[in-house]
Amino acid sequence: MTEPVLGKDLLGLEGLDADRIRLILDNAESFKEVSERSIKKVPTLRGKTIVNLFYEPSTRTRISFEFAEKRLSADTVNIASAGSSVEKGETLVDTARNLEAMRIDMVVVRHPSSGAPKFLADRIPSNVVNAGDGRHEHPTQGLLDLLTIRDALGEVAGRRVCIVGDIVHSRVARSNMWGLLTLGAEVAFCGPRTLMPSGVEALGVQVFHRIEEAIEWADVLNVLRLQFERMEAGFIPSLGEYYRVFGVTAERLERAPRDLVILHPGPMNRGVEIDSRVADGPHSVILQQVTNGIAVRMAVLYLLTGGGSAAGGSTQRTGSRRETA
Ligand code: CP
Repeated sequence: MTEPVLGKDLLGLEGLDADRIRLILDNAESFKEVSERSIKKVPTLRGKTIVNLFYEPSTRTRISFEFAEKRLSADTVNIASAGSSVEKGETLVDTARNLEAMRIDMVVVRHPSSGAPKFLADRIPSNVVNAGDGRHEHPTQGLLDLLTIRDALGEVAGRRVCIVGDIVHSRVARSNMWGLLTLGAEVAFCGPRTLMPSGVEALGVQVFHRIEEAIEWADVLNVLRLQFERMEAGFIPSLGEYYRVFGVTAERLERAPRDLVILHPGPMNRGVEIDSRVADGPHSVILQQVTNGIAVRMAVLYLLTGGGSAAGGSTQRTGSRRETA
């Protein structure tokens, strides 16, 4: 049997080469049409059992994985830490081993601790997909952002993408940075000094501390929320002050030298990091990100379970393994 092209697990975009990222995006492109059918289902993962194990709140990611799994005909179970034996003190690995004993094939895990998906992947034979771990990575969010930028601008290479806001606490910023740099984009971070990791310039990332400069430089803004759940101190004077200095507002975008594509991974805090007129405006692709999330997750699940060809080769076409169920 040939080795799956992505290996056993998807834990992050750091280290994933450009051919593999393009393979995922190309497969996602061909999976998009499944969600446009009246019967949104193909038999690709029939007989596979996938557990969505979420130790943190989630709307988009959990539901998007669940739709992706159901549209590929997998059997799915959702487990949240609230209401499970985690509340009684069971460890992550004991929970996973018990799931293994029920003969599962894959675990999609979100966890507040950076490295938890890797810890799990090293200990269980099932595929593990990182659905966001602490401040570390959120690879499927990075991939859906790449697909959305590619849809909007035709290609990622050479585009200037600025990630704005709470960079230091953001796994989305890290996955975006690795994926964008690998595909040849220019990457910048913009935010207050208190929310900026040190040393990113050494990775080839430009840093702005004035939103006006970022808007003048960029083709794309990816706007992040302030992640208070991961903050251990007061990083900003107040929400009002943050919006005054760093808010992505319609007035600021009107002064941009070109039309900017606006992304936000959600959940959005309107009037804190982004103005509603921008979030709902003509250059926002925020809801396209959500739609693309399902196709990207279908592609990841398909490739991890052995679908697809060698990286750089041709992608699977809808209608071969993906005929209507
Ligand atoms: N973008 C994102 O991860 O959203 P959720 O926290 O709702 O999953």
